Amino acid sequence: MTIRPITLSDHAALLVLWRRTPGICVRPEDALQPFSAYLARNPGLSLLAEVDGQLAACVLAGHDGRRGYLQHLVVDLPWQGRGLAQALLDEALRRLAEQGICKTHVFVLRDAPQALSFWLAQEGWSMREEIEVFSTRGMA
Ligand SMILES: CC(C)(COP(=O)(O)OP(=O)(O)OC[C@H]1O[C@@H](n2cnc3c(N)ncnc32)[C@H](O)[C@@H]1OP(=O)(O)O)[C@@H](O)C(=O)NCCC(=O)NCCS
Repeated sequence: MTIRPITLSDHAALLVLWRRTPGICVRPEDALQPFSAYLARNPGLSLLAEVDGQLAACVLAGHDGRRGYLQHLVVDLPWQGRGLAQALLDEALRRLAEQGICKTHVFVLRDAPQALSFWLAQEGWSMREEIEVFSTRGMA
């Protein structure tokens, strides 16, 4: 298994993986142009894992200068349960820490049981009971 930063040329394969993975919502921001802008804004932070040259897992990681954010942590079904998510997570957090980011959040859908049980089992992560998330599309 090798881990490397995601590049723009990985976009098509990532979209296929995201679309077939339960618990992952593909959003307009996952289209090529915003995906490209996201990678440019957060260079070297989003990672994928390959097994025998094939895409097996990925995580999008970025920060706003204060907090880190993870999205689309996905391990393709045949490769689940082999430590790939853990390896990607550790490497993404290491890279965020290198940039001075010492706290990172992930938003998890309430109706994604596999994702919830994964994050609940993660050492060092806690579910925030005291926070509700409010979102807006602002003036867009
Ligand atoms: C959740 C997911 C990323 C886990 O990937 P994975 O490669 O199978 O996880 P790992 O093998 O790295 O497991 C790391 C640790 O988490 C535990 N774990 C993995 N999946 C778990 C689950 N669903 N519930 C509880 N614990 C889980 C493992 O037992 C392991 O713990 P250990 O180190 O104590 O043995 C993968 O199942 C997936 O892609 N699911 C669908 C997409 C999804 O829900 N992504 C999260 C979006 S926020």
